[in-house]
Amino acid sequence: MEPWKQAEMVYEDSMAARYDFHYYRSPVSQAHLREFFNLIRRHALRDQWILDVGGGTGAVTERLLNDRHTRVDTVDLSLAMLLEAKKKMPVLRAIVCDGEHLPFKDDAFRTIICSSVLHHLPFPDRMLKEIKRALAPYGVLIAQEPNQNHFLTRPESYPVNSISTMIMHYLYRIERYEPVGEPPIHEYHRAFTRQEIVRLFTDQFSILHFRSEFAFSCLFSKLRSPIMTRIILAMDRCLRRKDGSVFHIVCSKTDVGHRNLLKNYFRFLETLRQDPDQRMPGLILFSLLPLIVLGRAYELYERIRSKLGKSIY
Ligand SMILES: C[S@@+](CC[C@H](N)C(=O)[O-])C[C@H]1O[C@@H](n2cnc3c(N)ncnc32)[C@H](O)[C@@H]1O
Repeated sequence: MEPWKQAEMVYEDSMAARYDFHYYRSPVSQAHLREFFNLIRRHALRDQWILDVGGGTGAVTERLLNDRHTRVDTVDLSLAMLLEAKKKMPVLRAIVCDGEHLPFKDDAFRTIICSSVLHHLPFPDRMLKEIKRALAPYGVLIAQEPNQNHFLTRPESYPVNSISTMIMHYLYRIERYEPVGEPPIHEYHRAFTRQEIVRLFTDQFSILHFRSEFAFSCLFSKLRSPIMTRIILAMDRCLRRKDGSVFHIVCSKTDVGHRNLLKNYFRFLETLRQDPDQRMPGLILFSLLPLIVLGRAYELYERIRSKLGKSIY
């Protein structure tokens, strides 16, 4: 195993017991998780296989199981992280393995989730390549990763930033927040710039959804008061157009255009029928029909295959 994976394993093993306490305890971090899960719900089908790569202590997986998704697998490099997940969900199928070498057949999963994992890797493209192999042709990869260029970190946002920081300190003082020793950041961990993340995903996938979220609430991730949390989250909505602290990405390995082509095909034909000047492009378009129909037939075949529950290993 490469030295950075060995180092990552040791780091995550040492973090496992306090991971949920540090990252999922506060109402703000729970709200962030809920937002990401809502995105997953919009794309994941209940009766199809879902894989959580680098699933850790199972924060996302637990929500999937609670939402009656029964066909869920999780893989992670760290045994200790998966044991924490198993404590919460004894029925969970968890496999210790490297996300760059998944023990599954090609095209096995309709949905793959990759939550806050790629920024732990020196070569994130390798894991994405392996995810692409295991993803069904019309499947979706749903990911979230931290944003390096959050708008509050920019020099032009200095006034907003200083006011927000004052509010943050004030709220923490009211709540008598006692800082708990934060775990050290691992030397390989970092955040992505918008350009980096877009290039990373578009090199291998078609992006269906891309947003950065939590422009304001990221400062308040340790706040305890539920009422203040609501106000802070409302601020996020006001600052929707600004760069937030986390990127949410949904992508597919099948060309997005192909999905829409058939939908629009007959609409085009109808327009062409009414306009004799457009016969030639019409004929070209017509000759593409068999290809489009074949593509849709293949998608149907994939859906039926995964519904019948054929082995994915
Ligand atoms: C920040 S945690 C995220 C955990 C979980 N997905 C979540 O959102 O709470 C990153 C996880 O990625 C796992 N990981 C890092 N490198 C990996 C690799 N090469 N293969 C599989 N898992 C990996 C770590 O062990 C760790 O559990």
